[in-house]
Amino acid sequence: MATNITWHPNLTYDERKQLRNQDGCTIWLTGLSASGKSTIACALEQKLLNKKLSAYRLDGDNIRFGLNKDLGFTEEDRNENIRRISEVSRLFADACTISISSFISPYKADRNRARELHKEAGLKFIEVFVDVPLDIAEKRDPKGLYKKAREGIIKEFTGISAPYEAPESPELHLKTHLKSVEECADDIYNYLVKELIIPA
Ligand code: ADX
Repeated sequence: MATNITWHPNLTYDERKQLRNQDGCTIWLTGLSASGKSTIACALEQKLLNKKLSAYRLDGDNIRFGLNKDLGFTEEDRNENIRRISEVSRLFADACTISISSFISPYKADRNRARELHKEAGLKFIEVFVDVPLDIAEKRDPKGLYKKAREGIIKEFTGISAPYEAPESPELHLKTHLKSVEECADDIYNYLVKELIIPA
C-alpha cells in the first residue's frame, strides 16, 4: 500500500484527471428534431465506453422526464432547459467524464452561455452542429411530430413555428443526410483524439 500520499482538502481538476487517467469535456450536439443527434450520441457513447473511457449521454429522455419535467417549449422554458443542462454537463465534465449533451438548443445565446460556463471552469466545450435540411428532417419524422406541427396540433415547433439559429463556428459540422451515423460518431471520436482529449 502506498504510504506517502497526502490528500488535499479539495481535489483539483488536475488531480482528478491524474487519478482517473482521463480528461473530461462536454460534447454539445445541436440541431433540428430528427437531425440524428441522439442516434449519433448513442453511437459515440458506446464507442467511448468500449475503449474503457467514461462517457455519459444527456438527452431529452433522461433530462426532460426528470430534472426538467416542469419545462415546456416556450422560448423562456427552452432557455431554462439549456441553462440547467449546461450546468449538469459542466459537472460531468468536471468529474473527468466525456459528457455528451444532445438537445435542439435552438438559441445561439444559450449555447454561447454553455460555452462560457465551461470556459470559466477551464473545461473543454465542443459544439457539434448536427445539420440536416428541414425537408429531410420532416420526411424522417420518426415520432410524427413535424406532421402534428404542420397541422397546428403542436405549437412552437422548432423549424416550423419556432426558430432554429444554426451555429456559425462550431468545432464540428456534420451533415447527416450525407454521412452515416457511424461516420459521424467517428468524426467526433477522431476530433477528440486530434485535440488530445482521449488517447489515439
Ligand atoms: S430544446 O429546444 O429545449 O433544446 P429539447 O432538445 O430539450 O429541446 O427537446 C426536443 C424534443 O422534444 C424533440 O426532439 C421532440 O421530440 C420533443 N418536442 C416536443 N415539443 C416540441 C417543440 N415544440 N419543439 C421542438 N421539439 C419538441
